[in-house]
Amino acid sequence: MRLAKHLAHAGVASRRAAEALVFAGRVVVDGEVVTDPARDVTGDEAIAVDGRSVRRAPERRVVYALHKPPGVVSTAKDTHGRRTVVDLVRSPGTRLYPVGRLDADTTGLILLTDDGDLAHALTHPRFEVPKTYRAHVRGGRVSERALQALRDGVRLEDGMTAPAKVRQPHAGLLELTMHEGRKRQVKRMCEAVGHPVERLERIAFGPLVLGDLAEGGVRRLTQPEVERLRKAARVP
Ligand code: URA
Repeated sequence: MRLAKHLAHAGVASRRAAEALVFAGRVVVDGEVVTDPARDVTGDEAIAVDGRSVRRAPERRVVYALHKPPGVVSTAKDTHGRRTVVDLVRSPGTRLYPVGRLDADTTGLILLTDDGDLAHALTHPRFEVPKTYRAHVRGGRVSERALQALRDGVRLEDGMTAPAKVRQPHAGLLELTMHEGRKRQVKRMCEAVGHPVERLERIAFGPLVLGDLAEGGVRRLTQPEVERLRKAARVP
């Protein structure tokens, strides 16, 4: 589709006014100023007018999976100038939001998207999207009793935790699947049963798994993967 027509469809301006915006050099496509209103676009590009990104149609929004390294914060901006997960994803002209949070020292799967509704639904406890963590804990083998306590719910200062799936693939390594996402929840739960966490990694988020994505690696989710996420979060 022609760029000016695309801008008009996106509600930026009338077709004629959109052409004028393009001629005036006020439109950026994938980080590059474009002055030809007839430039062909698919709608997958990141397009901005006067520095403000043009909202993609819902079926064109992007979701990235990042294997977060340690020491990177998962807010969109850090007040102390530390590297953020957004800094690790190259997506010119697109405003990305991290979906939920991981502690700075936690590694593993975090999603980033320009779709605010999807991000909200994926992190809202009401939609109960499960997340799976792998926790290396201190204190050796975790007793069956402690495992059962983690499954049934443990008392934390902000209340009982909801039931979780917990298994111990080998002594001192726990795999926990839970729907809640309270602050430092996995660490606090493990500590509550006498096994502080040494290292924490998230290996799945809803229907998506970290798989063999290398630490620091990023990949854009395919359309079928995004559809599965929407289904998991019950976003139409
Ligand atoms: N639980 C934690 O304790 N930390 C995380 O980063 C995520 C879940």
